[in-house]
Amino acid sequence: MPSSPSVLLGVAGGIAAYKSAELLRRLTETGHSVRVLPTAAALEFVGAATFEALSGQPVHTGVFSDVPSVPHVRLGQQADLVVVAPATADLLARAAHGRADDLLTASLLTARCPVLFAPAMHTEMWEHPATRANVALLRSRGAVVMEPASGRLTGRDTGPGRLPDPAEIADLARLLLERADALPRDLAGRRVVVSAGGTREALDPVRFLGNRSSGRQGYALARVAAQRGAAVTLVSAHTAELADPAAVDVVRAGSARELREAVLAAVRGDAAVGGADAVVMAAAVADFRPVDLATHKIKKDGSEPEPLRLTTNPDILVDLVRQRAPGQVVVGFAAETGDGSGDVLHHGRAKLARKGCDLLVVNAVGDGRAFEVPDNAGWLLGADGSERELTSGSKALLASHVWDAVAARFG
Ligand code: CTP
Repeated sequence: MPSSPSVLLGVAGGIAAYKSAELLRRLTETGHSVRVLPTAAALEFVGAATFEALSGQPVHTGVFSDVPSVPHVRLGQQADLVVVAPATADLLARAAHGRADDLLTASLLTARCPVLFAPAMHTEMWEHPATRANVALLRSRGAVVMEPASGRLTGRDTGPGRLPDPAEIADLARLLLERADALPRDLAGRRVVVSAGGTREALDPVRFLGNRSSGRQGYALARVAAQRGAAVTLVSAHTAELADPAAVDVVRAGSARELREAVLAAVRGDAAVGGADAVVMAAAVADFRPVDLATHKIKKDGSEPEPLRLTTNPDILVDLVRQRAPGQVVVGFAAETGDGSGDVLHHGRAKLARKGCDLLVVNAVGDGRAFEVPDNAGWLLGADGSERELTSGSKALLASHVWDAVAARFG
């Protein structure tokens, strides 16, 4: 990735244009040099001064400003990434048909870098055959058109068409800068289940045994799978404050046993959707839970507290392997530290053999690595003996390598 990637942020004229200011702030804060290209309609929603102040760069909409520097050709040519958020139905139509009637669409024609469209429109517009055809055309040419989020739209409507959360768009923008081919539509028609976050094992109504998992890696796996076309169920235990990924069905679970029920049910599916094609256990599941759950808050009474008695939780990954349907791909995670008996990789290989899954992502933890941080690195070990080092990058990048390996096993 270049040291200060040059990003063009196109903004089309929809009510969600106000969220592009938040996306712009995220992109500039992570060191990108961002030039904003709003359409004339976008400036009806957000003033040019907002974009100029946040980007530190001038804002033009037409091709006749600053003509000597030929911006309608140069900006697209020099960009490392173009992000269009929100992309309205009209903008997608103009982009699909190669129109060049403003600076944004002209730049889309000269850009040779990855292009990410984040759509936002009413559900009827998103589902209209014209928009479906335009999205398919753009995707067939290599552009990434995100699946929109579902939820409340302007007015009383709800349904798919909401702009994905700005944090999610920024995450995928970073991913495309790290790896231009990270989001093919190769999981279309597949159902996948991902678990994320850390379980909490209750001691009494206010206390629990927990762990440091933020859920970021599992959310990145779910987000990348959804944008690669899969139908995704994300079973989420406790996480940092993370927005639900767009186009993902999110199920909440608290304890290890609740997570087990939710994951097994999601993997089983039902008559309508069928079983899952793949399951990735990224959750940090507590190995132990307290034997006794106090019904009232445990009080101190001056005497020594009772020692905590623990019992072992079921191993969900082992259960999944045991119940695996033919062709289903089961992926585990292992957070390891080296010790006297072997290094991280040695422990990873042993765990892969013990658990019996198809793929195991091994992370080295400790010294501020992996937990509660945006980046991750490790190894991807296969039951077939394959071994791939995953160099440090975003959690979305690691997710994209995991899905490559899963897709290769689908054949
Ligand atoms: N896992 C699980 N159920 C458990 C514990 C772990 O499904 N009760 C899954 C995790 O989601 C992860 C993998 O197993 O995908 C490995 O988790 P880890 O905690 O590293 O493994 P453990 O079996 O707990 O081994 P260790 O003795 O190293 O703690």
